[in-house]
Amino acid sequence: MLEDLVRKNRSYRRFYQDVPVPLETLRALVYLARLSASGSNLQPLKYVLSVDPEVNARIFPHTRWAGYLKDWPGPEEGERPAAYVVILGDTEIRKDVGCDHGIAAQSIMLGAAERDLGGCMIGSIDRNGLRQTLDIPEQYEILLILALGKPKETVVLEDVGPEGDTKYYRDAEGVHHVPKRSLEEMILKEYRG
Ligand SMILES: Cc1cc2nc3c(=O)[nH]c(=O)nc-3n(C[C@H](O)[C@H](O)[C@H](O)COP(=O)(O)O)c2cc1C
Repeated sequence: MLEDLVRKNRSYRRFYQDVPVPLETLRALVYLARLSASGSNLQPLKYVLSVDPEVNARIFPHTRWAGYLKDWPGPEEGERPAAYVVILGDTEIRKDVGCDHGIAAQSIMLGAAERDLGGCMIGSIDRNGLRQTLDIPEQYEILLILALGKPKETVVLEDVGPEGDTKYYRDAEGVHHVPKRSLEEMILKEYRG
């Protein structure tokens, strides 16, 4: 059921770094993005894939993790992603890719969840540093990084409390909690007919 997959598809930020993700898996996930919707069907997205520990070690310093967890600087060595998908926008195809990369990212993350992988969309990126280390030409806008691997943490969903705080948090047992707003709060109007 799609709801089960969407529930399973949480943002994971700690991984079994030594469990490899085959490059073929990343290619199969990008294939899902290939099948997904694109504004005007221009398909401006391009991808850089890495399952190479040496390249991963160069990507990691340019990613920023869990801004709400103030005491946690991000995954330590040994718990870092085993794979990365960098989503780029080819400005020679389209200057502004709109929400194409969000759609592609969700297809990829759902495909990862289906394969018992997990990960995190990273929008907070040192883009200049990443461009330099991966030698990405200026023609390509750096849109999102998808960090992937075998998750090494438990993430649970809960309802936003009466105080309305949506900040995720980690409890004493290391479980990551993600408050979600109620459906009632989300739906502004309903026309039942
Ligand atoms: C566009 C986008 C950018 C994000 N950027 C980051 C990021 O830079 N670093 C990070 O740790 N998490 C990032 N996240 C993950 C969100 O924090 C996460 O989706 C949110 O806390 C809800 O958790 P959930 O994905 O498990 O529902 C991003 C998510 C999205 C959709």
